[in-house]
Amino acid sequence: MEDVISYINEHKETYIEELKNFLRIPSISTLPESKGDIRKAAEFVANKLNTAGMSRVEIFETEGHPLVYGEWLGAPGKPTVLIYGHYDVQPVDPIELWDSPPFEPEIRGTKIYARGATDDKGQMLVHIKSVEAFLKTTGSIPLNVKFIIEGEEEVGSESLETFIKNNVDLLKCDTVLISDTSLYAEGIPTLTFGLRGLQYMEVEVVGPNRDLHSGTFGGAIANPINVLAGIISKLHDKNGKITIPGFYNNVPNITKKEKENYKLLKFSEKRYAKELGVTEVYGEKGYSTVERTWARPSLDCNGIYGGFIGKGAKTVLPSKATAKISMRLVPGQEPKKISKLFINYIKKLAPKSVKVTISDLHGGYPAIVPMDAPAVQAAARAMEKAFGKKTVFIREGGSIPIVATFAKKLKVPPVLMGLGLNSENLHSPNEHFDLRHFQLGILSSAYFLKEFSL
Ligand code: BES
Ligand code: MN
Ligand code: MN
Repeated sequence: MEDVISYINEHKETYIEELKNFLRIPSISTLPESKGDIRKAAEFVANKLNTAGMSRVEIFETEGHPLVYGEWLGAPGKPTVLIYGHYDVQPVDPIELWDSPPFEPEIRGTKIYARGATDDKGQMLVHIKSVEAFLKTTGSIPLNVKFIIEGEEEVGSESLETFIKNNVDLLKCDTVLISDTSLYAEGIPTLTFGLRGLQYMEVEVVGPNRDLHSGTFGGAIANPINVLAGIISKLHDKNGKITIPGFYNNVPNITKKEKENYKLLKFSEKRYAKELGVTEVYGEKGYSTVERTWARPSLDCNGIYGGFIGKGAKTVLPSKATAKISMRLVPGQEPKKISKLFINYIKKLAPKSVKVTISDLHGGYPAIVPMDAPAVQAAARAMEKAFGKKTVFIREGGSIPIVATFAKKLKVPPVLMGLGLNSENLHSPNEHFDLRHFQLGILSSAYFLKEFSL
């Protein structure tokens, strides 16, 4: 093990160069014009798996973006770890707010800036490097390793969903190791035991058959933007509760023990508000910020458009207005059921004066990880060794829908070994990743492969 650790410490600079090359590929999964770069990113991952010494590496074509598979099964009788990650990234806009171009990685201080740095290229690469360190120094890994790296996480993981269902044997394992979440704070080893689910909807309101002069027609017909704003304003009550009938059915109460555990984390709502540039935190009455984001569901407008949105003033009544609305779900809530409840409620709120269309864009299940699973305990010990501190257990507000699928289809506990920070601007301009956590992540991963093999 010492050889492996020194090897990792000696290769710090090489790892950073490799990460930079990965980050130069603009693999934005949602843009049709990025198809070529998506393939480049898949090939990049396959190459890295090959040079790491995996015995089989394959790119699987799908209806969507390619999946990269790798395996090294040279430890018969030992457990198998399936490592999951995603090589796709979010769009970069608003591009003018980036301090350096999103696909020209730049190091400032201890951080590397680029789209995908923390979500998820930096976090994912960690595991390829730890496996490589074992194979290059000892010629073997203490257990069996499989990789499944996808290119559609940011758009709903549809192809991987199908692939898992059809390839349960290929993916057979004892745990799924994932680094695509966050540390509780800088330098604090963290394991996540809960993720929220998601249901994403679009509401379109259509009024007149064309845009109209807002003087000639103003006051005479229902304005789609006004109507849409009215609908949205009715989705929460004055206590910040979501008003959709049935929405909270099966939402478990937060237990006393859980509340106490959250208190131990000494979360500062003041600091949180300050860091986000808001005057105060806000949300469902009766809950703390930690509870609101980890253990309570939420509903938010992610985008709203219609009418004139250019500079200056144009007097116009829009023909159409659209809102994109997401709901974060907690264990107990079913995405499909929530979608139905949402549709029914919006239909009820919609006045006859306009035509309202509601679409279900995508959804995903929440996840809960059994903290006492041997793999999770091994991960806690591994991170503790790498970071030199006690591992903390947290939940997160974000979603990785495929985690629930892994747990259900492969019947194994996932390990959510997050290495990012929620302050690292994922999905936002100036995304970055702390290179200290990158290096500590490679060490954590290596210790995990050892710990879980014992
Ligand atoms: N890595 C994130 C999820 C995440 C971020 C979990 C931070 C915990 C902490 C992932 O890439 C992501 O962005 N997921 C999407 C869901 C998807 C269906 C678009 C999300 O949560 O919005
Ligand atoms: Mn991610
Ligand atoms: Mn993401």
